[in-house]
This record gives sequence, C-alpha cells and structure tokens, in this order.
Amino acid sequence: MTQRKKLKMGMVGGGPGSFIGAVHRIAANMDGLIELVAGTFSSDPEKSRATGEELMLDPTRVYTSYEEMYAKEQALPEAERIDIVSIVTPNHMHFDPAVKALDAGFHVVLDKPFTLTYEQAQKLYRAVNASKQFFCLTHTYTGYPMVKQAKQMIASGLIGAVRRVYVEYPQGWLYELLETSGNKQAAWRTDPQKSGKSGCFGDIGTHAFNLAEYVSGLQVAKICADLDIVVAGRQLDDAGSVLLKFDNGASGVLMASQVDTGAENNVKIRIFGEKGGIEWQQEDQNSLILRWPDKPAEILRAGTGYLSSYASENSRTPAGHPEGYLEAFANLYRNFARSIYAQQQGESPKPEWLDFPGATDGLRGMAFIEHALQSSQSDQKWTPFVVQA
Ligand SMILES: NC(=O)c1ccc[n+]([C@@H]2O[C@H](COP(=O)([O-])OP(=O)(O)OC[C@H]3O[C@@H](n4cnc5c(N)ncnc54)[C@H](O)[C@@H]3O)[C@@H](O)[C@H]2O)c1
Repeated sequence: MTQRKKLKMGMVGGGPGSFIGAVHRIAANMDGLIELVAGTFSSDPEKSRATGEELMLDPTRVYTSYEEMYAKEQALPEAERIDIVSIVTPNHMHFDPAVKALDAGFHVVLDKPFTLTYEQAQKLYRAVNASKQFFCLTHTYTGYPMVKQAKQMIASGLIGAVRRVYVEYPQGWLYELLETSGNKQAAWRTDPQKSGKSGCFGDIGTHAFNLAEYVSGLQVAKICADLDIVVAGRQLDDAGSVLLKFDNGASGVLMASQVDTGAENNVKIRIFGEKGGIEWQQEDQNSLILRWPDKPAEILRAGTGYLSSYASENSRTPAGHPEGYLEAFANLYRNFARSIYAQQQGESPKPEWLDFPGATDGLRGMAFIEHALQSSQSDQKWTPFVVQA
C-alpha cells in the first residue's frame, strides 16, 4: 500500500542539549511518512520556543505544555492536526503525557522504560488497551533487520527448542560519579524521583530483557538477580546480573552494566537450541551468526535476498551499505506509520508492520525491574560459600 499523505507528529521533550529527541526526529523523518509539525520540547517555555525555531516549526504550534498542545491540536481541523505524539522525556514524565495523549485520541510513541512505577505501568497498559490508537514503545534493538531475522529463524524451529539465552548490555559511561559534574543525562538517570526505583536496570536492563523475550519468542518465568551500586555515592543500581528461567524450561543469563569502564554499547544476544545457535551484536549489526554442531558457522548479512520478509521489510540498502542505530529507530517509526495509515484507510496492516514493541512489552519490562530489585534484596536462592579449614 502506498502512503498518500504524511502523518503529522507532535513531540514532548527533545529540547536543547537533549539526547534521544533528535534521534526520534531523524528516525521519524527518514522515510518521508511522518512530518514533525508541533511540539513542547522542554518544561521551560523559552527553551521549547528556541527548539521550535531551530526546527523551523510554525511558532503557533510550539506549545508551553503537553496539555496545551493536546487541547489546541484537537481543536484544529482533522487534516491539519497531529496524528502522533512522540514522548521523549525522562522516565518521570512518561505516564501523564502518554495517558493524556491517548485520551485526546492521538497515536503514541513512547521511549522506554514504560513508566516511572509499576502501578503507573498497569494503568497505562489498561489505557492503551482501552484506546483505539496504536502505541509503540521504542525498544530500539527490535528494529534491526538481523534481530528480526534471528526471531523468525528461531520461531521456524531452525535451531530446535531453545535451551540457553545469554543477553548482555555493557556500557561504561557511568564508571565515575558523572551525575555530580553537571551531566544532565547522568543526573536524572541516577535520581530515584526521575528515573524510578532502578538506575541501570530501568535504563538498559529493560532493553536486554525485551531483546531476550523478543528474539527467543519465550517469556521469562523466574529470575534470580544480583544488582549493585558499584560507584560510591550513587543512589541507584549501576550494574547487575540475573539468572533467567523461561516458560519452556530454558535458562539464561542477563547482565547489564553502566560501569564497565571503556565499554560503549555492544548489546549482544546468543541463543542456543537443540540443533544449533544464533548470535547477534549491535556493534556488528548487519551480521547474524548461526552455529552448528556438525559444520562450520554461517554468517548471514543484511540487505541480501535470502532473508525473511520481516528482515527485508526493515532494511533500505543493498548488502554492504551498512544500516545502523538510526535506521533501526526509523524502522519502528516506519512500521508504526504504515500501520496507522492502513487503519485510516480501513485496511489491515501487514503482520511485518505490526511487529513493533507495545504496552505488553512495557508492562513486562516494568515487572522485570520490580522482580529484579525484589530478588536482589533477598538471599533466598544463594548458598553461602563457606570454606572451613
Ligand atoms: N530507546 C533508546 O535507545 C533510548 C536511548 C536514550 C534514551 N532513551 C529514553 O528516552 C528518554 C529521554 O532520555 P534522554 O537521554 O534523551 O534525556 P535528556 O535529558 O537528554 O532529554 C530529555 C528532554 O525532555 C525535556 N523535558 C523534560 N520535562 C519536560 C516536559 N514536562 N515537557 C516537555 N519537555 C520536557 C527536557 O527539557 C529535555 O529536553 C528517557 O526515558 C530514556 O530512558 C531511550
């Protein structure tokens, strides 16, 4: 189906000096299906105005709050008003703008984690399900073509029943007390009022958890967690490890850390089944390794003709013309836009388009944070290692 009009988007967050707002804007714009026409980019009206000016937006559509944006946009004729609200604020500012955007009838893109608290997550989950709009939670890694390929291959039974899942998310940028040096992103991520009960596990542990469930097609049924505050003076966990048990009996290990000095962002997943294994990592994102007991490993590459429709629908360039983080983000937006447009035309979106994370992923991610903290604070499963001479 060819989309014949651009969907209009309003943004909450993404003001001066922010990180992910600009990534969302590039991603939403990449395929020409979505146009940013409105926004409230900061809680400070002057900063919001400055960002609107930089983005060359109509000043009458740069608002001082999301409440004002929703009310004024709702009052515009249907052909002019925004279709989508993109929320790219810190975690404490996810729930209210998301619920109110749904109430106002807009489709919602929200960055992870879903909410600040588990109670909010339950309410937002219900609000999404009660609405007729689409909702996307930007778990970026699910947007990579080779991650989609891995998911499809496992679902097709290629490696047999899954037995082991290893997922890791190592970062190093919080190896020292960056939050006291004026770094905005570090400051709110380590503040329980703005980040939630967890630091590292809310920020990137939820990505690892989501990736493990997405690619394996399984659901985590039990965990045993050990979360740490490595850097003295920090208020929230900055690293941790979790043993996982899945609903089919498979087991696994998840680790996430923001204090692995020098580490960048090499999210990695390895899954082993009865017949073979599959491996992907974000710093070599266009390759997927298959491992076999009786023949050499195979490397599948993005942009080739032998991939599944899910992988092919999510790349733009031929093999050897690398796509990366921005394109993975753009895939989430493109699938979201195509689904909305199909719905507006009274047609059913293709299953490949609907394959973006939503409220269920959000609620499960928040449950993961709760359980990881709970398990980490209890000594139940651990046996003390006592050596007596
Ligand atoms: N999916 C990913 O890979 C990914 C990567 C980075 C961040 N994130 C998530 O994105 C969110 C934002 O992270 P960031 O690093 O960009 O934060 P940031 O601090 O760089 O930017 C947050 C922006 O929100 C604005 N803001 C705060 N309150 C507001 C309000 N009431 N109205 C309008 N704007 C407001 C701030 O002024 C700022 O411009 C977080 O929830 C984070 O977890 C996701």
